Amino acid sequence: MKRIQFHNREKKIKEIRSILHAEPSLITFIYGPINSGKTTLISHLIEELPEAYTPFYINLRTKFLSSYDEFIKSLFEMEMETEGVKRKRKETLAELVSSVTKVAGIPINKEFLDYVFKDNKPKNAFAYIIKLFEEVKATGKQPVLILDELQKIGDVKVNGFLIYELFNFFIDLTKEKHLAHVFVMTSDSLFIEQIYSEAMLEDRCTYLLVDEFDEETTTAFLEEYEFSDDEMAVAWKYCGGKPISLVELVNMEGDRKGKVEEMLKIRKGQIEEIVYSLEARYTEMFDAVMRTLSEFIGKEKVGYKYISDEIKFLVGKNIIFADFVNKELRAQSRLNLLAIREVMKNV
Ligand SMILES: Nc1ncnc2c1ncn2[C@@H]1O[C@H](COP(=O)(O)OP(=O)(O)OP(=O)(O)O)[C@@H](O)[C@H]1O
Ligand SMILES: [Mg+2]
Repeated sequence: MKRIQFHNREKKIKEIRSILHAEPSLITFIYGPINSGKTTLISHLIEELPEAYTPFYINLRTKFLSSYDEFIKSLFEMEMETEGVKRKRKETLAELVSSVTKVAGIPINKEFLDYVFKDNKPKNAFAYIIKLFEEVKATGKQPVLILDELQKIGDVKVNGFLIYELFNFFIDLTKEKHLAHVFVMTSDSLFIEQIYSEAMLEDRCTYLLVDEFDEETTTAFLEEYEFSDDEMAVAWKYCGGKPISLVELVNMEGDRKGKVEEMLKIRKGQIEEIVYSLEARYTEMFDAVMRTLSEFIGKEKVGYKYISDEIKFLVGKNIIFADFVNKELRAQSRLNLLAIREVMKNV
């Protein structure tokens, strides 16, 4: 298997660096279509981060979050007690701060964890994080908090939705205390649209679109793996700049054109299944979905005024991506666009 190197995303990295250079004052939302390279970009950035920054990266994707306790636990990294190895227990915040690494969540020990869970209030967890970040600041470093796959907490409740408590905390960290940079990531455009329209977040956030590679970047990426001109043209035609699909093409042996045609056939079949399963029982919805899809026959981008039920449906099925900042709909990928057009051919 070929080893795929991180491919240059200089423009986005520059934008994020300039945020990091300023004093923390806004929450930064990183959004984009699925598999556009958001997590890869941030992981790369964390690796390259100068010593002066202390990142805390938490990815909620693999966490099981059905309750408040589980969410709080997912933020923290319990101090490990390695069997047989004599180590002094980390008792103070300063000792915990000294153990921070670039890959773990927020360090905590048993005593602090008991405090955090004392009366089931997010307040305690947030107070602990603030204390820890202040300790980081005292050592001359800038804390950076990054939460990936944030949509996973959408349904968790603590006297109302946890999400509101959490955003108040983020506002406190940024605009009020200027204590930490906060980056929040999601590929769920419905979730982010919901947040975007929250009055409480108005003027307190900035939004950064991490999109797929453009054509020039795609060509440069494929040239590194010795694609012929024909193969490059085929890759761009079917996969656009979707990094995950390009990586798949790089890693395969044999007939790449056959492969992308196969991918298109499969996606067409899936979309057909999704859409036509509405026809018998939900006629109105089916008609509305078909109307929306038909707009993509001649266009790649379609403006929208609000997230209607049919848009919600198509976004939820990962067929369409809603860019709420630009108020535009587009297919989740080039392959999805081609598949939509194939489906609409048979109508
Ligand atoms: N800059 C890059 N250079 C090389 N490969 C990349 C790059 N960005 C993404 N990839 C490839 O694409 C795959 C998907 O990227 P990634 O998981 O970062 O996307 P994402 O936007 O975070 O996805 P999701 O929407 O599921 O959160 C990665 O596993 C990696 O193989
Ligand atoms: Mg991701």
